[in-house]
Amino acid sequence: MNKIKLTVTLLLFSIVIFSQNIPNYNELMTRTQWWRDARFGMFIHFGAYSVAARGEWVKSNEKMTTEQYQRYIDAFNPIDYDAKKWAKIAKQAGMKYAVLTVKHHDGYCLFDSKLTDYKLSNRFNGRDLVREFLDAFRAEGLKVGLYYSIIDWHHKDYPNVGNHPQAGNPERNKKTYNWDNYLKYMFGQIEELVTNYGKIDLMWFDYSFDDYVGEKWKATELLKMCRKYQPDMITDNRLNGSGDNYSLTYGDFVTPEQAIPEISIKDNQGRLLPWETCLTLNNHWGYVASDQDWKPYEVIIQSLVDCVSKNGNLLLNVGPDGKGNIPKQSIEILKQVGDWMQKNGESIYGCGQSDLAKPEWGYFTKKGNSIYAHWCYPKIGPINVKGVSQKVRTTTLLSNGAELPVSRKWWGLTGEDNFFINTSSPLNHTFLLPDKADAVIKIELK
Ligand code: GLC
Repeated sequence: MNKIKLTVTLLLFSIVIFSQNIPNYNELMTRTQWWRDARFGMFIHFGAYSVAARGEWVKSNEKMTTEQYQRYIDAFNPIDYDAKKWAKIAKQAGMKYAVLTVKHHDGYCLFDSKLTDYKLSNRFNGRDLVREFLDAFRAEGLKVGLYYSIIDWHHKDYPNVGNHPQAGNPERNKKTYNWDNYLKYMFGQIEELVTNYGKIDLMWFDYSFDDYVGEKWKATELLKMCRKYQPDMITDNRLNGSGDNYSLTYGDFVTPEQAIPEISIKDNQGRLLPWETCLTLNNHWGYVASDQDWKPYEVIIQSLVDCVSKNGNLLLNVGPDGKGNIPKQSIEILKQVGDWMQKNGESIYGCGQSDLAKPEWGYFTKKGNSIYAHWCYPKIGPINVKGVSQKVRTTTLLSNGAELPVSRKWWGLTGEDNFFINTSSPLNHTFLLPDKADAVIKIELK
């Protein structure tokens, strides 16, 4: 991104975040409490596009007709789909909730909708993958969310707009579209989702664009319906935009995509707003066989900590293949993340931003009387947690509880607010950073 673009983006960003006022702020915070405490969730992009193995946008990217796309529908036979296995992977990774694509932009449904034949349950022994997902994840004690694409490249009344595979096609442009009819279908499907499957904790609508925003989708009425059946359900903000929409005009949390904001997100009264970065493990949401650009597990842990240090969540994606298997590289990364979470989860769950400025060697998170210093990057010499020294009760390495040597003075630095922590002795051994992803130091205050 060039400098001008960056400046404009940041400017817009600050205008937007400081110009919104959230009515019923307390209700919003109460409703999102469990989710803000959870901090870490699993996103699952799975559908007929997984067979094409070129991402969930394949139909649009390659401008396929519905007939051409049919070969993936026909070949989609996820014989290895085992939601219990997925749930165990998420749980072991330390995730507390999961969001599954029940219908993506291609319109093909993983749930047994009575309003269409364009669904997997029509074959595949009538299995409803969404129900299996919900049962399995609930059984592991995770909260459950459904991703529903309000865009639909299959429905006959969804117009030739935006990223539609046939957008701009002169033949399709001649057709007339009955928007109300599409909305009726969309409302009907969402009503099925919020009435047929028990308690749904979260609904992730995706997404709005151009003038297809807000009331074009009848967002007020839609949310009212959702709330009628699922009073505690929370929703994302994409009925009014996409990943770059920082408003909460509709919905309960902001959804930056493939990026972590520079600072926490606030309304115009300086009150913190709920947000969640969604992030891929390689460079795609849906399964892409050739994409082996996996993020190292350290980057995932540091990204999660970065989010929490600014009061945000991380929704980390997996894209199972067409048979229903989560790629083994994803499983491996999640396992390493899980091992770290097992020892250090205390510095993530229920945590948020601390008052201390971000240190160059990592991040701070905070919960109650404890500050967690996340030492992520090698640094010569001890780390200095400036400003806490007068109030510290104990300083320990979170992973093993060992007390760490601390001092107010070091190498001629004698300021009263210095608080130097060494994780090793003698000093200066940066390479002894006890965890190369993030060594968490718990500083308990009086
Ligand atoms: C975008 C993409 C979509 C993906 C989503 C995840 O909106 O269109 O494919 O599901 O981001 O955040």
